[in-house]
Amino acid sequence: MAQPKYTTHLGMVDILPDEVRKWQYLENLIREEAEKFNLEEIRTPIMEQTELIVRGLGQLTDIVSKEIFSFSRGEDNYVLRPELTAPVVRSYVENHLDQRGGSQKLYYIGPMFRAERPQKGRQRQFHQFGMEVIGSSDPVADVEVIAFMIHIYKKVGITNTTLKLNSIGDPESREKYKEALKAHLKPNFDKLSEVSQKRFENNPLRILDSKEEEDQPFIESAPVITEYLGEDSLAHYNKVKEYLNDLEIPFEEDPYLVRGMDYYTQTAFELISPDLGAQDALAGGGRYDLLVEEIGGQPTPAVGFAAGMERLMIACEELGITLGTEKEVDVYVVTLGDEARKWGIKQLPVLRDKGLSATMDYMGRSMKAQMKDANRENARYTLIVGSNELQEGKFTLRNMRESEEVSLTLEEVIQKLTPG
Ligand code: HAM
Repeated sequence: MAQPKYTTHLGMVDILPDEVRKWQYLENLIREEAEKFNLEEIRTPIMEQTELIVRGLGQLTDIVSKEIFSFSRGEDNYVLRPELTAPVVRSYVENHLDQRGGSQKLYYIGPMFRAERPQKGRQRQFHQFGMEVIGSSDPVADVEVIAFMIHIYKKVGITNTTLKLNSIGDPESREKYKEALKAHLKPNFDKLSEVSQKRFENNPLRILDSKEEEDQPFIESAPVITEYLGEDSLAHYNKVKEYLNDLEIPFEEDPYLVRGMDYYTQTAFELISPDLGAQDALAGGGRYDLLVEEIGGQPTPAVGFAAGMERLMIACEELGITLGTEKEVDVYVVTLGDEARKWGIKQLPVLRDKGLSATMDYMGRSMKAQMKDANRENARYTLIVGSNELQEGKFTLRNMRESEEVSLTLEEVIQKLTPG
């Protein structure tokens, strides 16, 4: 095959028709389950102001410093959204969603953009579904967020997951912890990996995330953040754990779990799958009680998660889970001759009005080729029409799965195919 002249950008993929069926199935499932959790969908633009993302996520985070796609047009700076928590909070503030009363229980599904090095489970355009509860400091909200996340994987059939849980407290306790961590690492600074040495001054918590072998002994012996939590944070964390136990949602406490954005406070969690390889995080989230105020709203507590849809699909593949069903069409009208073709095209809307999916040949092919095409299209039935059938008003309905044929009027065909 000739090399195509134009291709997608690195780390960006086309989702082709066979794959789209799986996506639609998954999106429908998420929407149906979101309804059960009393969530409302929110849709925000693909592009946001650079300043929002920098302010929201933090200047020194990997995403902001290395991974955002940004450009300017005239006076305005744009970024392709790398995530949706900051944009949803922007929308909450901009549209005064607090005035709707109560806490806002929102969900979303859509594409995100991060200029990362592509590998299995890591793309530059990828998709997330997620939930954000804005306006509640109650641990019930944390647990509902986690429960919705786990619920979706269960519904899909992915149960072999580990929920990692931590509390990173409030900014004051985190500052104290940062100092303690730096004091612990400093004597061995020279032995740390190059990346960790770079993170030491500005972003020491990220060292805990390091996968580099030489860092591991120092991470394993590091002080834990949970020992630096204030009374309120500790009480909140304990309640979250208590409710998770009540719901029989198993979790593993991981005192070294830190997340990639600066907006987190208190609860932090990740859902890990052993079926994913190096990029093993299916989903992640936590509380961000200071973000609404940080970007110009009233102090408003919030909590949420986001999940990678491609990673969910990879896990399904590894586990042999099929998402959705194969494409099929109820009726393929096979016609012989001009009259029949004219009749056929007029019956398509009749069949569709009755709730059936219906199609016919678009390429003026022979009857044999039409039958072959009906098979390729995975038709359940073919309705075969020639001049004799037109004269008699009776048509051959062929059940393609059973290879059985009956002769019926159009009304009888419809009756047979639309029981009830
Ligand atoms: P995050 O951990 O950056 O959190 O992303 C959530 C999930 O998105 C990851 O666990 C992963 O499955 C998927 N993901 C991230 N980057 C990529 C990529 N390059 N390719 C494929 N999948 C990827 C957030 O985005 C936060 N906004 C979550 C949150 C919501 N926190 C509070 N509310």
